[in-house]
Amino acid sequence: MLGPNNKKKKREKLSKDSIQRAKKLFSYLKPYRGLFTIGWVFLVLSSSIGLLFPILMGQLLGVESEQSSSMQGALNMMNVNNVTTYAIALFIMFATQSFFSFFRVVIFTNVTENALRDIRKDAFKQLIYMPMDFFNKNKVGELTSRLSADIEKLQETMRTTVAEFFRQLVMIAGSVTFLLYISPKLALIMLATVPVMAIIAVFFGRFIKKLSKKAQDEAAASNGVIEESLMGISNVKSFTNELFMLGKYVKSVTNIRALNVKSGLWRGVFISFLIFCMSGAIVIVVWQGLLMTQGANPELSRGDFFTCMLLTIMMGMSFGSIPDMYSSIQKAIGATENLMNIIYSKNEKNLLTGTNKPIITGKISFSTVSFSYPQRKDIEVLKGINFNITKNQTIALVGPSGAGKSTIASLLFNYYPITGGTIQFDGVSITDIEIEHLRSHMAIVPQEVILFGGSIKENIVFGKLDATAEQIIEAAKQANAWEFISTFPDGLETEVGDRGIQLSGGQKQRIAIARAILRDPKILILDEATSALDSESEKLVQEALTKLMAGRTSFVIAHRLSTIRKADNIFVIDEGIIKEAGRHDDLITSNGIYANLVDLQGVSVTS
Ligand SMILES: Nc1ncnc2c1ncn2[C@@H]1O[C@H](COP(=O)(O)OP(=O)(O)OP(=O)(O)O)[C@@H](O)[C@H]1O
Ligand SMILES: [Mg+2]
Repeated sequence: MLGPNNKKKKREKLSKDSIQRAKKLFSYLKPYRGLFTIGWVFLVLSSSIGLLFPILMGQLLGVESEQSSSMQGALNMMNVNNVTTYAIALFIMFATQSFFSFFRVVIFTNVTENALRDIRKDAFKQLIYMPMDFFNKNKVGELTSRLSADIEKLQETMRTTVAEFFRQLVMIAGSVTFLLYISPKLALIMLATVPVMAIIAVFFGRFIKKLSKKAQDEAAASNGVIEESLMGISNVKSFTNELFMLGKYVKSVTNIRALNVKSGLWRGVFISFLIFCMSGAIVIVVWQGLLMTQGANPELSRGDFFTCMLLTIMMGMSFGSIPDMYSSIQKAIGATENLMNIIYSKNEKNLLTGTNKPIITGKISFSTVSFSYPQRKDIEVLKGINFNITKNQTIALVGPSGAGKSTIASLLFNYYPITGGTIQFDGVSITDIEIEHLRSHMAIVPQEVILFGGSIKENIVFGKLDATAEQIIEAAKQANAWEFISTFPDGLETEVGDRGIQLSGGQKQRIAIARAILRDPKILILDEATSALDSESEKLVQEALTKLMAGRTSFVIAHRLSTIRKADNIFVIDEGIIKEAGRHDDLITSNGIYANLVDLQGVSVTS
């Protein structure tokens, strides 16, 4: 999927990578380190205060006893020696803890949301600047759902899990220390079970992480099926392939179920194992602890016994919750993989490093340009294209479907690197020209018009973001789009629906033409720009286009030869090269491919 496949690399490499990624993630916290540090101070304070609970509560429970205890010895100095004082101390402890916790939660949320906003922004910025090739490789639906799922995971982890995890660590460390202080013997008895569990926790954690990663990947794939079906819903319906798509989806969700059930099974084994160990440990400690309070000269006071029990229970709970938290932190670090891969991959800004800003007049030359799509390197789509175009010429590209006409249009925009030869604009190589400078002089009415969900106005203004209302209306009129726009009750504010679904093909095309008119480019590319129009509106739009083409270099790609007979030059492209070139009148007399095409279409071309 995204970036290099890490699966086959060694484990050391993987953990190195994840440290690397965690570091990158951490760099997003840097700008907020002041606030973040304060959050951590609150976290440390609230966690440490939590440790007072087992001590105070234990002594409170054991207060009836007349025996002196080691903890009471210390607390007596502060005049804490009866039930009420212990209770008050507990109240104060919880009040302080809740105060600190409140600020901890608020601050952590703030820092997390700031960092996530930056990550989201960077990810989208990166995506939008990705080279075209990236979008051929990745399914957009899968990409977006994965990114949002990853961000959600990060959010939960950064906001609470990390803090919780740390709190539990403090609990464990503190409990062990106090236990060792009160009764080393009892502490050692309990600790005897801990290393075993720690090893099991790490082992299981890794295993479960692997299983859930698989399920995540499958879930992203199944979302891809939904997106694909719904975006192409009319295809699905017209071919009555609902059952086929459903089958594809069911297969995928069945797989998700199986993977999750499997990981659930192991999680279950894991948790029950932990519960058993923990209760076992508690029983042993209670048993041994009680034995120590027996007799005439007991090793342990009642108060210390209760404190030890509470410490053990707290530590047990902390230990029980650690593996789950550990694995969700691991998951979140895993989730950053895709995110950071995107954020740190090379985009057009890194790849297209041209800095020249020549005056673009529309003079273009291709010399022995060869090209294969990065995804299909073995198939050469263009095999040495040569042409020179002076400014303000109209060039027609004709040829059979799949000949490479739209590909030439893509290359003009520098969507893909060419594999051989050179493309020059006004004598400057395309690789040396600053990409935004180049593209700002071009406009295309593409073969498949896709509008943005929004109003007609928003879609037209896309051609020139600072256009005035008059300019927009003028462009719409010139594209012959105004006649249908003005019949809508909402006019320019009419919503076009998701991807323009509420408009007809011809209406969408005319909006795309208006957009191009508004841009007023030096180089105009019309890729089947009138294919979706009936012959009446085609004639009208054609007139608009003829006007539009004046004073700029235009490429017209068309199957209908009637639309291109006025071109200054016609290139007949077939099998990756220009087979014939010339004006319409010359080509029809030469009895070549073009003349044949004209014959086949039976178009009256002389009128
Ligand atoms: N994104 C892509 N990745 C890989 N191959 C592609 C891609 N786009 C097009 N091709 C292939 O490149 C060749 C030329 O395609 P292109 O779209 O340029 O043809 P065309 O002349 O515009 O055809 P049509 O008249 O049907 O629009 C075809 O064989 C096509 O399968
Ligand atoms: Mg095409």
